Amino acid sequence: MKGCIVYSSLSGRTKKLAYGLYEALKEEYCLTIKERKEEMDLSPYDTIFLGFWAYKGGNDPSLDFIFPRLKGKDVYVFGTLGYFDDSPHAYRTRQAVVEKVKACGGRVIGSFITTGGIPEKRIEEKIRTRAQSKRPLTEERLVRYRLTADYPTEVDIASLAQRVDLNLKILEETGGKL
Ligand SMILES: Cc1cc2nc3c(=O)[nH]c(=O)nc-3n(C[C@H](O)[C@H](O)[C@H](O)COP(=O)(O)O)c2cc1C
Repeated sequence: MKGCIVYSSLSGRTKKLAYGLYEALKEEYCLTIKERKEEMDLSPYDTIFLGFWAYKGGNDPSLDFIFPRLKGKDVYVFGTLGYFDDSPHAYRTRQAVVEKVKACGGRVIGSFITTGGIPEKRIEEKIRTRAQSKRPLTEERLVRYRLTADYPTEVDIASLAQRVDLNLKILEETGGKL
């Protein structure tokens, strides 16, 4: 396996997850890590670990150029979102990205999504525009934003690394079948 972690991150949460994964598995699997760049060459890698942040129920659009380059590759999708990671919204967001990889001819070897909190600027914007918002900015939501400000946690990072490790070991032992 020749693997590369590629991520996009606006406020650092997906980057934290991506680097946590890299640190946990880089020696065992000889991984490379790269932040998204239009000119990046993915051809040397057979396996891509694709890190995204949730945007309107899918991946952030800054990552869209990568999908056509995933054709024929094994892809592990991971992301962060600004909501509960056990919510239907989280499930749908993760599935939307999984389906996009498949539609571009990649083989999905696993997927993971976790709470990433909301950037401070976006909270301020929500407070500023709360009168016009369709969804009320409740006290509970503000408390959740405050309590998840530093997410993902070390536990989330370890959980991603453990799941990726498991799937890679299954692939190794089965000669590529999941
Ligand atoms: C413009 C914008 C749109 C967003 N849309 C969603 C969304 O549809 N669903 C969601 O759960 N979170 C949404 N978020 C929250 C981010 O996905 C979340 O804060 C994520 O952890 C940010 O990752 P980053 O720190 O790597 O940029 C949005 C954030 C921004 C800035």
